[in-house]
Amino acid sequence: MENPKDTITRIREAMGESLSILGHHYQSDEVIAFTDVRGDSLELARKINDLKAKHIVFCGVFFMAESAAILCRPDQKIHIPDIAATCPMADMADGKHVRQVLDILQKNGRRITPLTYVNSSAAVKAVVGEYGGSVCTSANAQTMLSWAMKQGDGVLFLPDKHLARNSADALGIPEEERIVLPVDVIDGDPKLHVSTAMADGKRFIIWPGYCPIHEEFSLNTIKAIRAAEPSAHIVVHPECDPALVQASDGNGSTTFLIQYAAEAPKGATIYIGTEVNLVNRLAAQYKGEKTIKPLIASQCDDMAKITVEKLAHKLDNLETATPVTVSDAIKGPAKLALKCMLEVCS
Ligand code: 13P
Ligand code: SF4
Repeated sequence: MENPKDTITRIREAMGESLSILGHHYQSDEVIAFTDVRGDSLELARKINDLKAKHIVFCGVFFMAESAAILCRPDQKIHIPDIAATCPMADMADGKHVRQVLDILQKNGRRITPLTYVNSSAAVKAVVGEYGGSVCTSANAQTMLSWAMKQGDGVLFLPDKHLARNSADALGIPEEERIVLPVDVIDGDPKLHVSTAMADGKRFIIWPGYCPIHEEFSLNTIKAIRAAEPSAHIVVHPECDPALVQASDGNGSTTFLIQYAAEAPKGATIYIGTEVNLVNRLAAQYKGEKTIKPLIASQCDDMAKITVEKLAHKLDNLETATPVTVSDAIKGPAKLALKCMLEVCS
């Protein structure tokens, strides 16, 4: 039987420009080695339309492939090596409940603009598009939040409560104007305890989702590093709790974290609070020049579902594989929301 790496190399050579393999920074080194394009969520979304390839294989989690399927040209097909690679945070909000919450919040005539993190299903993006809202990524959350705040009487930010609060802190939206909604989304079946009155006077309404991988980091770890290594730099992803963001030297998207490592002076020690595949890759890249360590080793098991074996299998069966598709009813409004983001941030 052919080695999976040889299969990938053979098919990439045979398909040439008609195939593009995209990879998110949280993918393993083995998978990243076979990607034509890597990036953060925003960069990958932006590139889809300009790719010549007819077949795009997305090494990342399902919402990324779904966003690509919404943004791609009609002649392109999007594939993911494992359809079970989902994002637990994205699963914490579903279209039906987001619509219900928006209807409750707007009952008294207020116009609430929804802003969804790109880590959300196409169905959620569609509801957001229908209600005149848009999408953000960790790279443009502040820009998109200030856009959304200007649209109506308030903003519903979802699903990530930490990115929401970190962006609100950066924009100076006061605590008393915010509310984190009491939606039990943790057990997979969201239960709403939301009333019109509870959001009265609140301009910034927050869905209570979070990323379990970034939830692993703790303020105590930062305090211990500060005490033991006062000259060490600490940077985190904004999916971390605001207390960690405030105690760090900087926060931003995966691209920001990569840039921070690149620009840090020779001899620096940098602790990075994000998914461990990316941190380990940076540590290897700068070995002997800078010391890069994870705050703690927190791995995204869903990102890790994409393996070279599954990539090889997908490529070997590309012609007969079912591509990732989004129904026209969802695609239209979801595309509106995504396009709005790309226009505001062009
Ligand atoms: P970015 O690469 O856009 O910073 O996103 C991080 C993430 O968690 C993707 O799932
Ligand atoms: Fe989702 Fe967190 Fe994994 Fe990113 S790291 S895909 S937000 S669970």
